[in-house]
Formats: sequence, C-alpha cells, structure tokens
Amino acid sequence: MKKNKVYESDDIRCVTGNTLRPGGFLLTNRAVLLCDILKNQKVLDVGCGMGATVDFLRSEFEIDAFGIDPSHKLINRGRELKNLPIIEGVGESIPYDNKYFDAVFAECTLSLMKKYEDTLQEIHRVLKPGGFVIISDVFAKEPDYIDELKNSDIQTCLRGLIDIENLLIETENKGFEVIILEDWTSLLKQLMVDIIFKYDSMDKFWNITTCENCSDFKTKLSLCKPGYFFMIAKKGD
Ligand SMILES: C[S@@+](CC[C@H](N)C(=O)[O-])C[C@H]1O[C@@H](n2cnc3c(N)ncnc32)[C@H](O)[C@@H]1O
Repeated sequence: MKKNKVYESDDIRCVTGNTLRPGGFLLTNRAVLLCDILKNQKVLDVGCGMGATVDFLRSEFEIDAFGIDPSHKLINRGRELKNLPIIEGVGESIPYDNKYFDAVFAECTLSLMKKYEDTLQEIHRVLKPGGFVIISDVFAKEPDYIDELKNSDIQTCLRGLIDIENLLIETENKGFEVIILEDWTSLLKQLMVDIIFKYDSMDKFWNITTCENCSDFKTKLSLCKPGYFFMIAKKGD
C-alpha cells in the first residue's frame, strides 16, 4: 500500500491548483467579507500549505497575512513561487505571541491533526479578543464510522472526517461563540467531478495517489457520507 501524503503530491495540484482544498478561494473570500477583515489587519493561516491563501489575502485585500505549516516540502515550494511570510510550524504550538492576530484561518487542515482541540486552544491564545477563527473542512454526515477511518494509515484529510457535534462542543469549550456554520458539500462534489475529468474515475485517482488496494477504507468512507463545512467562530471580548 502506498503512503503518500496526497496534499503534497502534484497529482492533486494539477486539479486544485495551488490551493489544496475544495472550492479554491470562494470560502476564503466569503470569510473576509463576513468577518469584515480590513487592510493591514493581522491574519494567520494555520496549515497554509504552499501559502496560496496568504498570497490571496495580501494581494487582493492588503491584509498582513502569515502562514505556518509542518510540511517542509510545501513551504519550500511556496517560497520558490513567491517571497511569502510562511514558516514551518504546527497548529498545536503556534509560534506567535498571545492576542497577536485579528483572524485565523484553518482551511482543510484540522482533519489532518491527531487532536485538533489543541490547535483550537492555540488559535484562541493567539487571537485578539473579538477575533475570528475561520474553519473549512471535511466532515462526516454519519459519524459512527469515523474512528475506524482514523485507524487506517492512508494519508488524506478524508481519514480525519470531523464530527460536527464534537467540533461545536470543543469550539465553545475553548471560549468561542460559533456565529456561522454552513454546509458546502457541493464544493467537495465539484472537486470529485474535476478529479474524474482529469483521471477518468475516482478509483484511478485513488490508485495513483493514495493506495492501490484500499477498498475497506473506501467502504468505511462512503458509510460516513463525507461532506464539507464552513464555520466562523468569535473569541469573546
Ligand atoms: C489539504 S492541505 C491544505 C493546505 C492549505 N490550507 C490549502 O487549503 O491549500 C492540509 C495542510 O495541513 C497541513 N498540516 C498537517 N498537519 C498539521 C498540523 N499539525 N498543523 C498545521 N498544519 C498541518 C499539511 O502539511 C497540509 O499543508
């Protein structure tokens, strides 16, 4: 069985471009407008990959955006493309001072973390009072099989489908108020359509990028009914 990290491979980039998630900048743009993030405000992108969102926020809105990501490969590739303030680091230990940022993005990255609760705690610490956390990620409409997926060694976000009920509890426990929660599963479906156009079928894509014999994983995945969500939560004043 292959153990590639799908998000680090050119096989997914040739479908999604430099953003490594469903929907490209659509939800990023929506968050800037909904949270009213202003020019020169400080924003962090946790799990920034190649820094596409950092670049977008800087060039489209003149936001003072920064990024962290543990992938040496993606950070280096991003820096080769453009001189961006993106550094190696993990969400569980954010290398910035308390109350430094006006907003923090986590786009399709919590699903890759062993304990995303620790990252939520860190995001809360680095946000100013009244600041926003913006999360978009994959979730399970039927979360009963989530734990079985987690035990697989396949390196894809889909292994970490989020249980929304649990996320809501954890977010509020950390001191946030959830103000927007939306279902954007249409973006995940569109990504699958794009993959099929590129690779002829999802099975071919799976075989090339992820695993040659993972029917058990795929069965559990379909039982979970994957979806895609967008959430904004506000740190108390
Ligand atoms: C699917 S990619 C999304 C990248 C980027 N947010 C985007 O949408 O283009 C997931 C990213 O999460 C990063 N990641 C994995 N574990 C992480 C952690 N513990 N803390 C921060 N980022 C992490 C990966 O290296 C990868 O770049």
